[in-house]
Amino acid sequence: MSDPILSIRDMRLEFDTFDGVYKAIDGVSLNVAPGEALGLVGETGCGKSVLTRAAFGLVPSPPARITSGEVLFGGRDLLSLREKQLRSIRGAQVAMIFQDPMTYLNPVFKVGTQLVDAIIAQQKGAIARRAARDLALEMLDKVHLPNPQRQFDSYPHELSGGMRQRVLIAMALAAKPKLLIADEPTTALDVTVQAQILDLIAELVSELGLSVIMISHDLGVVAQVCNRVAVMYAGQIVEDAPVADIFDNPKHPYTLGLLKAIPHPLRPVEHLAGIPGSLPNLYTPPTGCRFADRCSHAVPVCTDGKPPLMDLGAGHRVACTLYRKEHVDA
Ligand SMILES: Nc1ncnc2c1ncn2[C@@H]1O[C@H](COP(=O)(O)OP(=O)(O)OP(=O)(O)O)[C@@H](O)[C@H]1O
Ligand SMILES: [Mg+2]
Repeated sequence: MSDPILSIRDMRLEFDTFDGVYKAIDGVSLNVAPGEALGLVGETGCGKSVLTRAAFGLVPSPPARITSGEVLFGGRDLLSLREKQLRSIRGAQVAMIFQDPMTYLNPVFKVGTQLVDAIIAQQKGAIARRAARDLALEMLDKVHLPNPQRQFDSYPHELSGGMRQRVLIAMALAAKPKLLIADEPTTALDVTVQAQILDLIAELVSELGLSVIMISHDLGVVAQVCNRVAVMYAGQIVEDAPVADIFDNPKHPYTLGLLKAIPHPLRPVEHLAGIPGSLPNLYTPPTGCRFADRCSHAVPVCTDGKPPLMDLGAGHRVACTLYRKEHVDA
């Protein structure tokens, strides 16, 4: 198998807050292979955004403190780089899109002007304005924005939410990045537009051969785009598997809970299961499994120590005591 394009190894991150030290990320290891679309799922506050942003130096320190780990990207450990070096990697090799496209577009400049300026900045001035304009129009066409020439001369408020997200995807991909990080890119959009944007991302991923980390709290969203899924809970990865295995053969009780929480058109609403309880307090995290007090399968040994992420074969890993050999054999 080819070397991963991104390898996060044993990352730990804490926030210094007035209430104490908040241990947001606890020993996370994650690889993304070239051309792979990895989904990162888990409920709100579990650390999806902090993990991916911190990997690329986007979580301000203080209050954040990375206490251990490595982030290997393009053969370099990003955690040892200076801000200037990180900025050039972020601009050219890694692109990010976020939930609310309007926040990332300036309301007083036309869409085309912003796109052209972004392209010139991405190429550090090594492209003429005319060529940047041609590339901008080509990218708007690539993201299937209807009537690109007209939208080029529009202001962001004249575009719908879905159109703005297409503009940001065009801006992100103009630099021909190796990795796209999409952090809840469709949460603010209505369902039909959401499906179109997810289709677009899936199409661009296969056409351009780039790697993607798609962050969502919705397993249905990642199923549309990703070939592998990592499930996060309370600052840890609890399961990591090919997308079909997550749906057909989920192992971790938390993943099972997330799957049961997906509404099914043929299932009556009263059968929609949630996961009782809430995330543990990460100022004083449990020493054992962090999901134990919400888990209907928990046994006394679950609170004894942190379960390691065990390899079940075929690229399926799970951090749950129930899958330890001695329990499976018993
Ligand atoms: N600057 C900060 N100071 C203190 N705590 C923070 C800070 N930024 C994030 N956190 C905490 O880190 C935890 C992880 O946050 P994060 O934004 O990564 O969650 P998430 O999984 O992306 O959630 P969501 O699905 O809501 O986007 C949260 O509990 C959050 O409150
Ligand atoms: Mg988030």
